Amino acid sequence: MAKEKTLFTCSTCGGTSPRWLGKCPACGAWNTLVETVAEAEPGKNRYSAASFTGLAQAQAVQPLAAIEARDFARTASGLEELDRVLGGGIVEGGVVLIGGDPGIGKSTLLLQALDALQRTGLPTLYVTGEESGAQVALRARRLGLEHSPVQVLAEIQLEKILATMDAHQPAVVVIDSIQTVYSDQLSSAPGSVAQVRECAAHLTRAAKSSGMAVVLVGHVTKEGALAGPRVLEHMVDTVLYFEGDTHSPFRLVRAIKNRFGAVNEIGVFAMTERGLKGVSNPSAIFLSQHSAPVPGSCVLVTLEGTRPLLVEIQALVDSGGPSPRRLSVGLERDRLAMLLAVLHRHAGVACADQDVFVNAVGGVRISEPASDLAVLLAITSSLRGKALPKGFFAFGEVGLAGEVRPAPRGQERLREAAKLGFSVAVVPKANAPKKAIEGLTIHAVERVEDALEVVRGLG
Ligand code: TYD
Ligand code: MG
Repeated sequence: MAKEKTLFTCSTCGGTSPRWLGKCPACGAWNTLVETVAEAEPGKNRYSAASFTGLAQAQAVQPLAAIEARDFARTASGLEELDRVLGGGIVEGGVVLIGGDPGIGKSTLLLQALDALQRTGLPTLYVTGEESGAQVALRARRLGLEHSPVQVLAEIQLEKILATMDAHQPAVVVIDSIQTVYSDQLSSAPGSVAQVRECAAHLTRAAKSSGMAVVLVGHVTKEGALAGPRVLEHMVDTVLYFEGDTHSPFRLVRAIKNRFGAVNEIGVFAMTERGLKGVSNPSAIFLSQHSAPVPGSCVLVTLEGTRPLLVEIQALVDSGGPSPRRLSVGLERDRLAMLLAVLHRHAGVACADQDVFVNAVGGVRISEPASDLAVLLAITSSLRGKALPKGFFAFGEVGLAGEVRPAPRGQERLREAAKLGFSVAVVPKANAPKKAIEGLTIHAVERVEDALEVVRGLG
């Protein structure tokens, strides 16, 4: 095969240059040129004028109604929590990207999944670029999978990986990880944006043309985004993220994009001595165990995918220096600044000279606005040095006008908390149930200041 030529393409305007330049010659943007592979024969370029002017053949089109809507062929891995985030199982020809911090359990989960799939009769291939075959075998032994029929390939060169896939025709391939794979066609180092993009594109194409399911493992940068270009997320069908605090045994796998299922669905696992085990009833795992209520803590009922989760929100408000800090872990920082402004303006509670820290316990990331009320109550509880009562929880979105807006599926949240023994709640008025829920005292509020008033009344 003739070696393909490398080319540098501007990621803003698409202009090209035969060598790398700091400034794009076409649009003048800085630092936008990325190494790409040029087509072998220039005349065959799919964007050349020829393809628009009659040399390409017109293709048949058909009305939408005439196309049969087929469901995707899926195979359940048997790991229930993983199947749940995937939307029922692994899809033929589907490409999944799975990201997460180092050491969180990506390789462990995928090895377990491949073993389970292989046992259902699907041929599988585990391509390891980070670890040697011996290291993978060692992990397999720890997982009790030493007799596993999963096929392993220790390789990082894309062309060899593609040739092996072609020869062995596995139904499911795991590439652990996409950052270690490199193509001969590019001179840039493995892990560079150009390499990651090119290799992922080739593997995606292979998946679509052969019907193999491909799972790409991706690293996460310190900022929490998948290392490599965002374009990776656009290329694949499903993007899953591993979340969780490496110090706690619980791990969440969240679908942030899924062409074959619902997004924001989560799978919950616990890391044990023998690998990841699904947690089928996870609602109470993100609560810390205080023997008596402590100031600065408020339990939130959040809805993740189809299941309600109870998460403890902690806040610490402490006198700060000349420029007080606002820090949040697991919650949005901009939203925290907004909530503090609402608290000041509408409830007259000022934190301007205080450091404010908030944290969602257990390494969960909460993005839904229904967490607002619990965050505010944790902050005011810390500020006053007064604990919220035992069995207390809250949820509800807070608007800039100080109004408390309803959260979706409030009844489910209330029932789940009641089931776990929680007894007092402050919730948005529109979420108050028509019929009383046994064991639950509900205070329905319309405004932030009302919520604070209720809490003050509780002690
Ligand atoms: P790993 O799957 O290698 O993480 P990643 O591929 O995301 O980098 O998981 C490594 C961690 O999991 C490591 O700290 C050891 C721990 N672990 C267990 O606790 N139990 C087990 O059975 C296995 C295999 C790993
Ligand atoms: Mg790994």
